[in-house]
Amino acid sequence: MNKPRIYITREIPKIGLKILSDYCEIVIHKGEEPPSKEEIILNIREKDGILCMITDKIDKDIIKESPNLKVISSFSVGLNHIDINEATRRGIYVTYTPGVLTNATADLAFGLMISTARRISEGDRFVRNGEWKGGWGPNLFLGEGIWGKTLGIIGLGRIGTAVAERAMGFKMKILYHNRNRSILNEKKLGVEYRSLENLLKESDFISLHIPLTNDTYNLIDKNKLKMMKRNAVIINTSRGEIINEDELADALIEDRISGAGIDVFQTEPLPLNSRLLKTKNIILTPHIGSATYITRNLMSEISSNNLLSVLKGKEPLYLFNQNVKKIRSLDGTRMI
Ligand code: DGY
Repeated sequence: MNKPRIYITREIPKIGLKILSDYCEIVIHKGEEPPSKEEIILNIREKDGILCMITDKIDKDIIKESPNLKVISSFSVGLNHIDINEATRRGIYVTYTPGVLTNATADLAFGLMISTARRISEGDRFVRNGEWKGGWGPNLFLGEGIWGKTLGIIGLGRIGTAVAERAMGFKMKILYHNRNRSILNEKKLGVEYRSLENLLKESDFISLHIPLTNDTYNLIDKNKLKMMKRNAVIINTSRGEIINEDELADALIEDRISGAGIDVFQTEPLPLNSRLLKTKNIILTPHIGSATYITRNLMSEISSNNLLSVLKGKEPLYLFNQNVKKIRSLDGTRMI
C-alpha cells in the first residue's frame, strides 16, 4: 500500500517528525513565516492529512481543494482557525492538543499579572535607557501589589483553574465567571461565582481564559471596560479578538484602568501602527503562552500521534469533532 501523504505547515520539534516519518510521505513548509493561503491550497491537494498551526486559516476554500483529506491535526488547543463544520460535513477528523499547554499558559498569565502590577518591563526600559539618575527613591516606580488582591477569572476551564491554583499561593480572593457554575470547584479551590458584570466591578485583576467564538468576540468592549475599577489590570492569554483593542487602548490612554498584560492580538504579528503600542501601562508579548520547550515537544508528539492514529483507523487521543464519526467511520480513514 502507498504511504499516506501529509503536509506540515511549519518545522515542528523533531519528536513529531520522527513519529510520522516511518509511516508517511511528508512535505514540510520551511521558514519562520507561515505559508500563504495559496501555498496551503497548492500543497494540500492529494494529501491525506495536514498538521497545521493556529496561523493557518483552514477555511472552506482550502478544505474543498483537498478531496483526499481525512485528518486536520492542529498543533494547538484553540481551534478557531479551522472551519470545523465544513470539515465535519466532509468527514474530516479534527484533532488538537489540550491539557499540555495548561501550566505554561497559566504561568505566563501570572507572570504578566505580576509584571504589569509591579511595572517590571517599564522599569527594565528605564534602566536600559539611562533614565535612572537618582538611585533608590521613595516614590520611584510605585505599583500595585498582587498579594491578597481580588482576581477575576473569566473561564474556569483547565487554564483558568491553573491560574486560580497559582493565585491561592498569593492569598488572592478569587472570583470566576463561567458558562456553567461548578460547586465542586468552588469548594476545592475556594473560588466564588459572579455574574460577568459583578466580576468586572469587583476585581483588581481580570484574566481571560475562554475560547474565541461568536459569543466571545469583543466580549470586553468599552462598556465592560467602564465597569472595571480604576486600579484594574486585565490579562489576555486566550485570543486577541475577545478584547476590542481600540477600546482597550482608549481605556489605558485615558487612565480609566491601571494596566494590561496582553499576549494575543486581533492581528498577529501586532501591526506597528497599533494604538496599543502608544500606551505605557501595558506589557505586550508575542503569543508565547505555550512557548516552553517541554510544552512544544508535547504538542509536537501529540499532534503527530493524533494524525497518525486517524490514518491508522484508530481513535486519536484528542478528537474535537466527535460527530465526524457519523459521517465517516475510523475504518474509512485507515491507510496504514
Ligand atoms: C493554542 O494552542 O491555541 C495557543 O494559542 C498557541 O499554542
